[in-house]
Order: sequence, then structure tokens, then C-alpha cells
Amino acid sequence: MEGKEAAARQAVTLIEDGMVIGLGTGTTSAFMLQALGERIANEGLRVRAVPTSVRSREMAEQYRIPLVELSEVVTLDMTIDGADEVDGALNLIKGGGGALVREKIVAAASRTFVVICDDSKIKPFLGAHPLPVAVVPFGVESTRQKLRRFTETVVIRLVPDDSNAYHGRTPFVTDDGLYIFDLHLGTIRDVPALEASLRSVVGVAEVGLFVQMASRVIVGYADGHTKELLPGLP
Ligand code: 5RP
Repeated sequence: MEGKEAAARQAVTLIEDGMVIGLGTGTTSAFMLQALGERIANEGLRVRAVPTSVRSREMAEQYRIPLVELSEVVTLDMTIDGADEVDGALNLIKGGGGALVREKIVAAASRTFVVICDDSKIKPFLGAHPLPVAVVPFGVESTRQKLRRFTETVVIRLVPDDSNAYHGRTPFVTDDGLYIFDLHLGTIRDVPALEASLRSVVGVAEVGLFVQMASRVIVGYADGHTKELLPGLP
């Protein structure tokens, strides 16, 4: 079992009968969806779930996980989602899979936000991974110019392997119709300040910095064991 799966399976043991669950997006969350589907099928576990992307919705349907709209439930008991990087204060970079807007809304609506990842995601500081920033397509070059205040390297995310793309330049469009800039920042020293500054840029819809939102981080290792990180603990 790889580390991502170990973390995902451990997180799914935390789900209790009757809970409303937020379903993350990405390869680690895919293991979580599979494990949750198994508990529903084998134990008759009753949950309702809110997916954070169209892809996770499709997978949840495949695993027969009952779904509900966020606007119907407003608050969730628990969300389980992956991360691109986790620092010592449990701040996160998210959005590698392009779902950061819905992921942040769902996490913020949850009483408990459980992050699942393998040990490669744990870093002393955030920033080695490019920071995803979701922007409104209108005026995208004006927004890019403003973002260059933070770094020269502001890369628009493109559709991977798009055979129709002209010179490969078809922007990736999120489930909410947004584009994504990946900002190559290097070490981020003050995560809350950067998040606030980026969010104040006109045209920015959301920033992939999740500042102290995680209730716990479950880290999985290649040998199948897991470790739990809690806020405020070394
Ligand atoms: C998607 C995300 C993912 O949680 C993040 O990219 C981690 O992905 P993976 O589990 O595939 O490593 O934020 O928007």
C-alpha cells in the first residue's frame, strides 16, 4: 500500500454513521472515495457527501456514495482532502488538481477538516510547489500583470495533452469557469500575509493557500503506517 492510500484509509475510519462529509479532489482523495465506498457497501454506513469537483462527483457516483448539495446542508461534519504541500503550522498549498475554489468553500463549511497526504508533501516552508491562484478569465492579462508584483514567474495553466490546442495554448478551465495561474514563489515566509495580499488583487477569485484551516493532517508512509499532525504540536 502506498503512503497516499494508507493516509486515506486511516481518515475514512474517522467517519461516523449519519455524518455529512466533504469529498476532496486528487489522487489521494480517490483512495478515500474508494475506501468510503467500501464502508458503505460492507457496513451499511450511512453518510451524505458534498464533492469538491465534477471528477470527485463522478467517482462518488461510481462508488454509490449518496450526494447532497452544499446549499442544502450548509455545514458539514467533516471534509477529507489532499494537499500539495503542508508546513509545520499545518498551512497548505492546494489546487494542483485545479479544484481549489470548491475545496476551500467546502473546507471552510466543515466542522473538521482532515488533510491526507504522503510524507513527500510535508515541508518546513511552503512554496517549492507552485502556488495555484484562480482568476476570472475576463481581463486575465491585466490580472497577470498585477500578480507579477509577487513573482516574475506567473504561469497560466494549460490543458494537458489537448490535441486541438494551437501551440499547446488552451487554458485549463476550472469547474467554476476560472483560469489558474501557477505562481513560482520559492520559500513563503509569511503565509497569512501572502494569502491576504493575493486575495486583494482584482480579478483573483481564490488563492490556493489554506491558512490554518486543517484540524489534523494524516501522513501516510510507503510501508503503510500513518502519523497524525495536530495544530500547535511539534
Ligand atoms: C486538488 C488538490 C489536491 O488535493 C492536491 O493537488 C493533491 O493532489 P494529490 O492527492 O493527487 O497528490 O488540491 O485541487
